[in-house]
Amino acid sequence: MMVRLVMFSTKPYDRSGFVSAVESEAIEIEFLETRLTPHTVSLAADATAVCAFVNDDLSEPVLEALVAGGTRVVALRCAGFNNVDLDTARRLGITIVRVPSYSPNAVAEHTLALMLTLNRQIHRAHNRVRDGNFALDGLVGFDMAGKTAAVIGTGQIGVIVARLLWHLRCDVIAVDPFENEHLTELGVSYVDFDEALARADILTLNCPLTAATHHMIDASAVGRMRRGAMLVNTGRGALIDTVAVLDGLKSGRVGSLALDVYEEEGELFFEDRSAEIIDDDVFARLMTMPNVLITAHQAFLTREALTAIAGTTIENVLTVAAGGVSPNQVELGGQPA
Ligand code: NAI
Repeated sequence: MMVRLVMFSTKPYDRSGFVSAVESEAIEIEFLETRLTPHTVSLAADATAVCAFVNDDLSEPVLEALVAGGTRVVALRCAGFNNVDLDTARRLGITIVRVPSYSPNAVAEHTLALMLTLNRQIHRAHNRVRDGNFALDGLVGFDMAGKTAAVIGTGQIGVIVARLLWHLRCDVIAVDPFENEHLTELGVSYVDFDEALARADILTLNCPLTAATHHMIDASAVGRMRRGAMLVNTGRGALIDTVAVLDGLKSGRVGSLALDVYEEEGELFFEDRSAEIIDDDVFARLMTMPNVLITAHQAFLTREALTAIAGTTIENVLTVAAGGVSPNQVELGGQPA
């Protein structure tokens, strides 16, 4: 039986990975540029499976429309699944699969790239030199060696971030309900969140977005951070209350900020908006600050990661469509109603 897969929010770099991954005659992919929303969900009518990305809407009305149209599988081509209404998915009996691990190195390396770029102000230095400005005023950074770096979440990505920081001879501390013994063997100590806030010169968020981690960096957390610390978020935007962090930047409590994810990124990221007025004052204010560095959710974007994402997604879809159980199914708990 031919499996029809409709893929939302696709870009040329997604499509080429999937086209080369489709060896099977049993799958036919329709690539759509549009995001999945209640308004566009009808485009997936009759599709066995729908492939979605980080900013696609998988709320109750969308899942209900998908099931009504005959869709049995939602294949996320990302690791996080915070954009899925899991209670509704369970109620409707629709299967959610994801790509839990495609290249933790890609995200960890980008996290480190952000830290080093922001610290040594490579982005500003590059622009200056291109403009014939060889002055160094305002470009003073700090040695990473000897600084305390706190990794919040030492799963697949955080563990690599912690190792990279250890190699830079940082004093690495970590926060995670589950300790990683390879890190403790290296001398990484696990501390509670408050201690990490108080001690860290560099704080990197590498945990998933859940009800418990939503706005974990809020005004209170900003107030408890070590003055002048660098904050890096490559996890999910809503781990941070951006307005609170903006206030922290203004007061100097937050020394610098690097983001690859942003709470309101759904309205901005993945599109060329260079000819538009950005209608988000918080984001626009952040962009005026010399000590803020933002990339548009690109930490995953390596050739290796794209190949792995395409391969695993197709395998996930074919397994579930054939009535099997994918090891990458999101645990929904309970039985469908
Ligand atoms: P993972 O599931 O392997 O690890 C997450 C870790 O966070 C686990 O060890 C868990 O125990 C820990 N954790 C959960 N709640 C915590 C809390 N309150 N405090 C501290 N630690 C906590 O996930 P992985 O693969 O390392 O990815 C982490 C996150 O990175 C994903 O959930 C996703 O949101 C984000 N991500 C971002 C990408 C990007 O392009 N910017 C790409 C891929 C993932």
